Amino acid sequence: MCWKASSAFRASLESTRKSNKLHMYKTHFGLRELPFGITPDTSFFFACSNYQEALNTLLIAAKNGEGFIKITGEVGVGKTLLCRKFMATLDKGFVTAYIPNPFLEPRTLMLALAEELEAPLEKDADQYQILKAINHRLLVLAREGKRVLLCLDEAQAMPLETLEALRLLTNLETEKRKLLQIVMFGQPELDRKLQQEAIRQLNQRITFHYHLGPLTKDDMAFYISHRLSVAGFTGSRLFNTGAVNAMYSASGGIPRLVNILSHKAMMLTFGEGKQQISARHVRAAAADTGAAKSIGLPWSWLGAAIFLAAGTSAGWAYFK
Ligand SMILES: Nc1ncnc2c1ncn2[C@@H]1O[C@H](COP(=O)(O)OP(=O)(O)OP(=O)(O)O)[C@@H](O)[C@H]1O
Ligand SMILES: [Mg+2]
Repeated sequence: MCWKASSAFRASLESTRKSNKLHMYKTHFGLRELPFGITPDTSFFFACSNYQEALNTLLIAAKNGEGFIKITGEVGVGKTLLCRKFMATLDKGFVTAYIPNPFLEPRTLMLALAEELEAPLEKDADQYQILKAINHRLLVLAREGKRVLLCLDEAQAMPLETLEALRLLTNLETEKRKLLQIVMFGQPELDRKLQQEAIRQLNQRITFHYHLGPLTKDDMAFYISHRLSVAGFTGSRLFNTGAVNAMYSASGGIPRLVNILSHKAMMLTFGEGKQQISARHVRAAAADTGAAKSIGLPWSWLGAAIFLAAGTSAGWAYFK
């Protein structure tokens, strides 16, 4: 039943994209842009206590200039957005190199770093030459008074030997300070990886770390309002108390899930021509979302919801 629901919604969705219904949806709720996208867009950054604490940890650690920094958190909790926000917050004294997917062998990671730092390289340079070019570039930047940070997203995917190569990179230093500081963002598997014998030296060098947890229920309600207001919403409460409770049960306060469910629930509300999102809209959205926790949807209502969404073609494919 649930699977059928998904395919019915999705079929209607394709036509939505083509038929400009998303524009009507924005107008219906008085929005300038879509409030619940899943791309990590820093203009939507919500700085409730845990995100602010994580950001402060990063900024303090970067100023400190020593060792590795590690940020962990479950899937969809906001690590990539935090990384982007962090890089955007640093002042001009910092140069950042960003590697979004470090599932790379050591040499390729070094090449990626050299490229990010705009270190000139001969074609077919070997590992020794790449390291030398990086070192040279780091010394030039240090003379210009710049601090260099390498930010690695998805760090849990790094092979062990690449993690070990990273440690060697942090050995590059002048007499006074390190030339490169490394920030790793990763899912909790990163911790398990770092406990392995082969890279225990790296683990010892982690001087700052923060575990980013999900939103509390109150913060999640503020999070929803915050994203709506950034998107241009100026009305009174769009999600009623029941909707917020259902949202928290289904998402566990994980921002990506909150975004997906909020968008779907708003589409259903739009399909009904209503202005306020209630618990049943959220439950229907959760029933259509594999990663959401099941929170008991009356099937009769789901059937009606599918019918409505199919009739109005309200934009499901947005998340495909
Ligand atoms: N503090 C926040 N303020 C506003 N939006 C947020 C916040 N944290 C997360 N989000 C939103 O939640 C969604 C998921 O965030 P993000 O992609 O950063 O998660 P992630 O932890 O990197 O996930 P993954 O483990 O899959 O890489 C994005 O749409 C992002 O904009
Ligand atoms: Mg991410």
